[in-house]
Amino acid sequence: MKFFIDTANLAQIKEAQELGVLDGVTTNPSLMAKEGITGKDNILKHYVDICNIVDGDVSAEVISTDYESMIKEGEELAELHDQIVVKVPMIKDGIKAIKYFSDKGIRTNCTLVFSVGQALLAAKAGASYVSPFIGRLDDISTDGLNLIAEIRHVYDNYNFDTEILAASVRHTMHVIDCAKIGADVMTGPLSSIEGLLKHPLTDSGLAKFLEDYKKGN
Ligand code: G3P
Repeated sequence: MKFFIDTANLAQIKEAQELGVLDGVTTNPSLMAKEGITGKDNILKHYVDICNIVDGDVSAEVISTDYESMIKEGEELAELHDQIVVKVPMIKDGIKAIKYFSDKGIRTNCTLVFSVGQALLAAKAGASYVSPFIGRLDDISTDGLNLIAEIRHVYDNYNFDTEILAASVRHTMHVIDCAKIGADVMTGPLSSIEGLLKHPLTDSGLAKFLEDYKKGN
């Protein structure tokens, strides 16, 4: 499973990259705003800065919601860097845009996916990635992980190339469960990746090894 980090924070992206297990970055307009990145030029520059840190795909989201404007915006984003994947919302014009980008060889991430039907449509249109938001489904008492399992089943039925990018991952158990189900990618906060490190027996075992070493030296 690929590990993406879901942030526009350059320090966190650097930290994740230095860990050596990072495969990409996802961003969205809310994450950019959280970092205080506003205005088109600053946003475009920020995407390039991210691409220069991470060795992998970087999702950059279009703001437009009509077909023509999404095409224009997406092509501009794709021109920025060969690591850019154009993130397109799951709406009717978004599906048309994904088909257009797919035919042109521009990679896409279909975002705001909350049902298996939407994921099927994204794959049919040729999305490179589909982003089901598992945390937001959990937030409304719906089983986010079950959606990942359903999409996995449907995509395997037809050997779709679209990669399942489990998004809105909130914690480490989401990461582990997504890996068990067979999501191709997960994107979450750095803490969800670093949580994989943790086990009290590792900590106590290491403390004992170091203590015994000191005794003999
Ligand atoms: O990038 C999209 C998605 O990961 C958002 O996550 O935590 O805002 O639901 P969250």
